[in-house]
Amino acid sequence: MNKIYISPSILSSDFANLENEINKLEASGADWIHVDVMDGHFVPNITIGAPVVKAIRKICSIPLDVHLMIENPEKYIKDFALAGSDIITFHYEAAKNSVIETIELIKSYEKKVGLSIKPNTSSKAIFPYIDMVDMILIMTVEPGFGGQKFMENCALKIKEIKTQQNKDIIIQVDGGINKDTAEICRNYGATSLVAGNYLYTSNNMKEAIASLR
Ligand code: DX5
Ligand code: ZN
Repeated sequence: MNKIYISPSILSSDFANLENEINKLEASGADWIHVDVMDGHFVPNITIGAPVVKAIRKICSIPLDVHLMIENPEKYIKDFALAGSDIITFHYEAAKNSVIETIELIKSYEKKVGLSIKPNTSSKAIFPYIDMVDMILIMTVEPGFGGQKFMENCALKIKEIKTQQNKDIIIQVDGGINKDTAEICRNYGATSLVAGNYLYTSNNMKEAIASLR
């Protein structure tokens, strides 16, 4: 069976106690920490920037899975790479004319590359890039906010991506993931699950993370 990487999103955490929140996620069996970076342009919300990633890096021993929901991602790859990101995922829609350049730029910092698509983007749009990246992130909600409802039709893209891959890449889903929707995605072939609201509203973080596997 494939390893499933669980990447809790800190978007739903208490930012005044971020160190404790991250320690708790690590102790509860998280594989990665998912950091949602939003710029108020690509999505209608503003969240975390590179200085916060740098601060998290100092107190966290597991990989930082940084999800850039920003316009012109190529301008900020250096900042996020030097801040200590391990995986840098950018959006196809934000980099349409510079997808390959952005992939190469992330690789030049020896970071893992993720490429993401929003719900209205067909999986076909990114077929040409699948073998150039380490991870494809399929959004199962409109990016911008935590706590939204899972869109099952988007999860079908997992299968479409799988039929096109010639090497072993990670297929991640993000948005509305809970115990039940995680099962749907795993059955389709997802190998990494992001979850925010589900984990933060559970009474037991360790059990909630385990339930996603
Ligand atoms: C949405 C973000 C997600 C979000 C997931 O734009 O990319 O990572 O925090 O949150 P839930 O699991 O609450 O949908
Ligand atoms: Zn995300």
